[in-house]
Amino acid sequence: MTRQETTPPRIPTARVHPLDPPPELSEMRGRCPLAPLTYADGHQGWIVTSHLLARQVLSDSRFSSNPRIRHSAVHDVLGDGQPPEEDVPGMFVGMDPPEHTKYRRLLTGELSTRRMREMEPKIAAVAHELIDRMQADGADGADLVTGFAMPLPSRVICDLLGIRYADWRDIQPVSEKMLRIDSSAAEVKECYRIIFEFLANVVGLKQKEPGDDLLSGLVQSAELSDVELTSVAFQLFTAGHETTANMFSLGTYTLLTHPEQLAALRADAGLMNSTVEELLRYLTVIQFGISRGAAEDVELGGQTVRAGQTVTVSLPAANRDPQRFTEPDRFDIRRVPSGNVAFGFGVHQCVAQQLARAELRIGFQVLLDRLPGLRLAVPADQVRMRDGAIVYGCQELPVAW
Ligand code: HEM
Repeated sequence: MTRQETTPPRIPTARVHPLDPPPELSEMRGRCPLAPLTYADGHQGWIVTSHLLARQVLSDSRFSSNPRIRHSAVHDVLGDGQPPEEDVPGMFVGMDPPEHTKYRRLLTGELSTRRMREMEPKIAAVAHELIDRMQADGADGADLVTGFAMPLPSRVICDLLGIRYADWRDIQPVSEKMLRIDSSAAEVKECYRIIFEFLANVVGLKQKEPGDDLLSGLVQSAELSDVELTSVAFQLFTAGHETTANMFSLGTYTLLTHPEQLAALRADAGLMNSTVEELLRYLTVIQFGISRGAAEDVELGGQTVRAGQTVTVSLPAANRDPQRFTEPDRFDIRRVPSGNVAFGFGVHQCVAQQLARAELRIGFQVLLDRLPGLRLAVPADQVRMRDGAIVYGCQELPVAW
């Protein structure tokens, strides 16, 4: 086979160390930070592995989020192809400005600094309650994923949207299945339908009996149709718990396997903000990155991305770029935060990043304060990781205190 006939590789997925992205990603970045990539359906696209090009792609309006133009960084890259996209009004994650801007503006208003500040005591109260329960239930240990990491952000998102937590518990397994790359296209589609229907009912309830939650606020602003409201709820709901939950499990694992860093944090709570930023950078739980489709030919990194081609932006690779971060593979809670892309970049940058940061800051503080003897209950190499999940983290995290 000549060099030209060689099929470009698929996205690297095999980790050697549980806390480091697949080593091929750094090799790619060193060789060619914009490299050809083959997608699951045979599409010949690209992958970006440098911090500079990642930000360039994500802030260039010629790269679209429209699912009709781009292949998904996840199901199309790894699985059996994304379920056929339907045009559901209000799915702003897949829109470009100016359509995207309307939803973004509404949400920015609802996720105001004031609302975030109001939520802080609630987040702390839920964190304490969960630890009370773990201590009451278990002798001197528990699975931190089911006891703390998953329920904390889930209860926060339920509170934010005005969903009863008991109802959420029924739907959570569906949400988890939807985000697994080994779920088939038909399964993903069915999960999507079930969650959408569940949230449509919640929207109906808010219209009859509005509360002081975000969804009621959007209902009352009367700017969105019922389907748009359900779509907005859907995006917040699905993006809002797995990400933060896995940051808690994997973040705790990271701290417990870096005892000198944990000791420094315990000794100086003032390091919590930089610890959270460093965990976001170092772990970058959206492990297969995000994608954009070229709406026209674009010159990028000395090459031409043709109209219609998809570029996957590897957020984990960008966050380990030595051109941007000194000794990027070192976990260092004293590192001065320097524009990591764990929340993405550009117009779609995570709309709830302030909420996520507050949850992580408060959640970790309560966890460390309440459990001074916190430690792994099994050897570190026996902790099972979520290798096949869109959002990386720990499958379970057995801890003792
Ligand atoms: C540590 C936790 C989180 C991480 C790492 C994270 C990461 C991200 C990333 C990388 C994007 C950009 C996607 C893209 O450009 O295609 C994003 C967007 C988004 N995130 Fe988050 N997120 C987190 C927490 C949350 C939470 C708690 C919520 C909801 C309460 C949320 C809701 C959203 C929504 C709705 C978008 C789409 C924004 C848009 O398209 O304009 N995220 N997030």
